[in-house]
Amino acid sequence: MLKTLMKCIREYKLSSILSPIFVSGEVVLECMIPFIIAKLVNAIDVEKPALIDINVILIYGGLLIGMAILSLVCGALAGAFCAKASAGFAKNLRKDLYYKVQEFSFENIDKFSTSSLVTRMTTDVNNIQMSYMMIIRTAIRSPMMMVFSLVMAFIMGGNLAWIFVVVVPPLAAVLFFIMWKSMPLFHRVFRKYDNLNESIQENVKGIRVVKSYVREEFEKEKFDRAATDVQVDFTKAERILAWNNPAMQLCFYGVLSTVLFLGSYLILKNSNLQLILAQSGSALTVGVISQLIVYGMQILMSLMMFSMIFAMIAMSIESARRICEVLGEQSTLHDPENPVFEVADGSIDFDDVSFKYSASAEKNVLEDIDLHIRSGETIGIIGGTGSSKTSLVNLISRLYDVTEGSVKVGGKDVREYDLTALRNQVAVVLQKNVLFSGTIKENLRWGNPDATDEELVEACKLAQADEFIQTFPDKYDTHIEQGGTNVSGGQKQRLCIARALLKKPKILILDDSTSAVDTHTDALIRKAFREYIPTTTKIIIAQRTSSVEDADRIVIMENGRIEAVGTHEQLLDADPIYTEVYRTQNKGGKAVSSLEEMGEQGGADNA
Ligand SMILES: Nc1ncnc2c1ncn2[C@@H]1O[C@H](COP(=O)(O)OP(=O)(O)OP(=O)(O)O)[C@@H](O)[C@H]1O
Ligand SMILES: [Mg+2]
Repeated sequence: MLKTLMKCIREYKLSSILSPIFVSGEVVLECMIPFIIAKLVNAIDVEKPALIDINVILIYGGLLIGMAILSLVCGALAGAFCAKASAGFAKNLRKDLYYKVQEFSFENIDKFSTSSLVTRMTTDVNNIQMSYMMIIRTAIRSPMMMVFSLVMAFIMGGNLAWIFVVVVPPLAAVLFFIMWKSMPLFHRVFRKYDNLNESIQENVKGIRVVKSYVREEFEKEKFDRAATDVQVDFTKAERILAWNNPAMQLCFYGVLSTVLFLGSYLILKNSNLQLILAQSGSALTVGVISQLIVYGMQILMSLMMFSMIFAMIAMSIESARRICEVLGEQSTLHDPENPVFEVADGSIDFDDVSFKYSASAEKNVLEDIDLHIRSGETIGIIGGTGSSKTSLVNLISRLYDVTEGSVKVGGKDVREYDLTALRNQVAVVLQKNVLFSGTIKENLRWGNPDATDEELVEACKLAQADEFIQTFPDKYDTHIEQGGTNVSGGQKQRLCIARALLKKPKILILDDSTSAVDTHTDALIRKAFREYIPTTTKIIIAQRTSSVEDADRIVIMENGRIEAVGTHEQLLDADPIYTEVYRTQNKGGKAVSSLEEMGEQGGADNA
């Protein structure tokens, strides 16, 4: 896990090394300063002004200012390098996660939910960033500060410094006990945060559905429950943590009183005891005692900081695990070693294909599929919901790999192709199609980044989208909101078809892509396909028989199997399912299904 994370430090290695170096410099200087101050204080003897040596004061004063400035510079540089390293590390982590997700196959994506991926890229990366910042700065600073302060305390205060040695272990035990107690609560809080985030994301995304079902009150209650849950655990954790400060204060004032009492007692008595206590140190003076107190505070503060780092790191381990889970995920689709880049034609062959979404699934979603489609043919696919129509066509552009058998495009197994080359020739308008925030033009150019404005208009005319785009004030520069919420369902579908057409593919797959388009426009789109892209193989999945009845062949799907294949006329009467669907949809007289019957006046865009 550590190795995976370390790989993301990359160009920020130098900053990551410089930060602790400058921190060390800062600590050494900070520990020296009280020492110099003590010397300075002792040099100023108000009772015997005649004995004050102005030169000594100037030297110590100058040294003090110099060290203070140097310490400041070290501190500032350490802070700057630390910020650069941790922010850079987080950036690399996010980038690697994002790039990894882009590599994911549909199967990989099925494994992680969208909101969990988002939480991993945001909250979890933030946790790691905080931890890293602490590791390269505070985790170096605290123990160093503690050791140096202790050494200096011994040099200055001699045996009096043993007070610190005595007080540190019990305080450390108390602090770590507090952390240890609060840790599981924090863990739980983080997991609950995840749930809260997921519920917020889901609700905001589906806010229109929530409103249309008047579920606001229910959703509010659900949110309140999740929020209260987080609050309860957080309060519990913070209540335990709150003991940190009193424990610190108690120790600090204890140490302070002991040092003051013993110190002043020794100075006043100036007895032999002083010599024994201060064997290795300088003589006890007011200056020394005041600085001993400063060291004492530094030692205790460092201890507290250290226990907090410990807590932060422990908290980030869960985040690190979640991030590494994504980074370590292997894409289930790979390009072959010597990929084929040319797709010869638009022919498609399913040879004894069976398929299931995951190896552990019991039942195949597709079974015994044998289907051969000639280049340029128009194939309609009809079947009940869940009959595996989408699953079938997803295999053509290799969104998933077959479990058994093979799918060939242009006479070659799809697994032999370079994925990009294959998907450039197989354009799919997905059932769950999506538009991205940006202008219409930008969205269309997803299909082909080099398409000229004329080509955009041409594709939109074929997809019957040009007409409504022209009615927008900004025409092709109209801004599409995230998820395409400011265009109607039917308009969105037509834009998605135009986007696919811009690829100029050899195979075009429309997965229920005209379901929100009125029958007249639907017929116009099919007519345009026939006339302008006759050589492209077209696969049209539809719920309406009218959308497929002029196809060369119609495939009837039932429970993951091909039930029948034939033309509209052949299937009518011969296939009970098709006949039934056709009759139901055309009850009360023959439905207006094809363009010729409708005339040119057409229906309104009811999408
Ligand atoms: N990503 C997935 N992971 C696991 N199972 C899936 C996945 N997608 C679909 N399925 C299952 O596969 C079966 C076929 O689904 P598929 O989407 O192919 O049906 P469909 O014919 O396209 O239905 P619809 O007409 O509603 O679009 C269903 O039982 C469904 O639950
Ligand atoms: Mg489907």
